[in-house]
Amino acid sequence: MRTKPHYFMIPVVAVKREVPIGFAFLLVEGEKMGSGFTAILGIGVSSQYQGMGVGFSMMHFLVVKAKEWRVKHIILEVLEDNPRAIALYRKCGFRTTRRPVKKELRDGENLSLIQMAANVGSV
Ligand SMILES: CC(C)(COP(=O)(O)OP(=O)(O)OC[C@H]1O[C@@H](n2cnc3c(N)ncnc32)[C@H](O)[C@@H]1OP(=O)(O)O)[C@@H](O)C(=O)NCCC(=O)NCCS
Repeated sequence: MRTKPHYFMIPVVAVKREVPIGFAFLLVEGEKMGSGFTAILGIGVSSQYQGMGVGFSMMHFLVVKAKEWRVKHIILEVLEDNPRAIALYRKCGFRTTRRPVKKELRDGENLSLIQMAANVGSV
């Protein structure tokens, strides 16, 4: 019997002198009694603190938490023209699973998104 899918969030906030400078989260979805969860990852670091290891530290924290919560796979979408984020994800063991998919916004602008994924057991 399938249990009802449920969702929960694992957040992390990076703080410097009591001021938030970065935020990341895993949105975990899955079945409680199933073989493990899948999570969607989101991340952002304040522009003046980028390139200092904050993003990597938050990713590391979330991967540790993911293991604790029996998350099997983490997936994310990233703009094709965001090499900084793609480099971070690669460094953390993510690989491209779907080549660019175009998404049209309401104003007619097109976004080109890559899907990446990591097998939590191997990162
Ligand atoms: C993408 C982002 C989260 C990375 O966080 P960060 O704190 O800047 O990254 P880190 O300093 O931890 O760097 C980790 C790795 O990212 C990559 N990276 C960081 N800055 C980079 C740059 N300027 N150019 C290329 N790669 C870069 C490198 O692989 C780096 O590892 P290294 O230092 O061993 O070379 C951050 O730049 C950001 O918030 N950008 C704007 C929002 C965004 O793009 N969010 C992701 C949407 S999918």
